Amino acid sequence: MPNNNIDKQVPISSLPRHIAIIMDGNGRWAQRRGLPRSAGHKAGADAVERIVRACVELEIPVLTVYAFSTENWKRPAAEVSLLMQLLLEYLQRKVKIMATENIKICFLGERDNLPEKVKTAIERTEVYTQENTGLIFNIALNYGGQQEILHGVKEVAAAVAAGECALAGINQAFFAQHLYTKGLPEVDLMIRTSGEQRISNFLLWQMAYAELYFTETYWPDFDKEALLAAITAYGNRERRLGGLK
Ligand code: IPE
Ligand code: IPE
Ligand code: MG
Repeated sequence: MPNNNIDKQVPISSLPRHIAIIMDGNGRWAQRRGLPRSAGHKAGADAVERIVRACVELEIPVLTVYAFSTENWKRPAAEVSLLMQLLLEYLQRKVKIMATENIKICFLGERDNLPEKVKTAIERTEVYTQENTGLIFNIALNYGGQQEILHGVKEVAAAVAAGECALAGINQAFFAQHLYTKGLPEVDLMIRTSGEQRISNFLLWQMAYAELYFTETYWPDFDKEALLAAITAYGNRERRLGGLK
């Protein structure tokens, strides 16, 4: 039985199987305190840790967080390298602990143009946790939804050209096997913090029928209670999926 205090409001059967989070507002959180943006990103890393733990406690099967988008390269080089550095530190400090909690960590996104150190760290992390059977914790890094779909299209086109599959056999389920999230359920609940109400190129395919939840809370302030509020709101939505009530 998941260790949570929402089972009175939300039946376990309506817990989301896959939660995706656009962790936004680190910079504004810092600015509001008269701190440099870097302080917001550091506080944001602590929030990630809290939410991962909460998802383990709630027995959420899949959590995907947006750590760095393909568009985030437009930021000043110093901020980009700080974000990469923070990710490396986070992995250094937390991977062993997460592994003992049976968490499987995966990275979604294009790896080629990441710094070598980051590439090595993410490969090691994936290998180290790949046999774990608890929470699947996806970190979207150098990730873009449009790029992911194009990547899948190219793989499928190459398979068709090589005669490995027939055009007629390509359906949604087949195509989904060519995305970074292959084998995972689609997103049930998408949370975006900081008051912005847009998707920003996140999981475009996987969010086709996600319930969207927007909160004014800046990411560094997002905690278990805030997560429970989102899950409760999700539990109260009527998901018709195109059908009737
Ligand atoms: C989210 O916070 C973190 C990343 C995008 C990496 P921001 O850095 O976007 O914070 P704001 O939106 O400027 O407040
Ligand atoms: C989205 O946040 C990307 C991540 C959280 C990693 P941004 O702050 O980059 O998004 P925009 O620019 O407001 O759309
Ligand atoms: Mg932002």
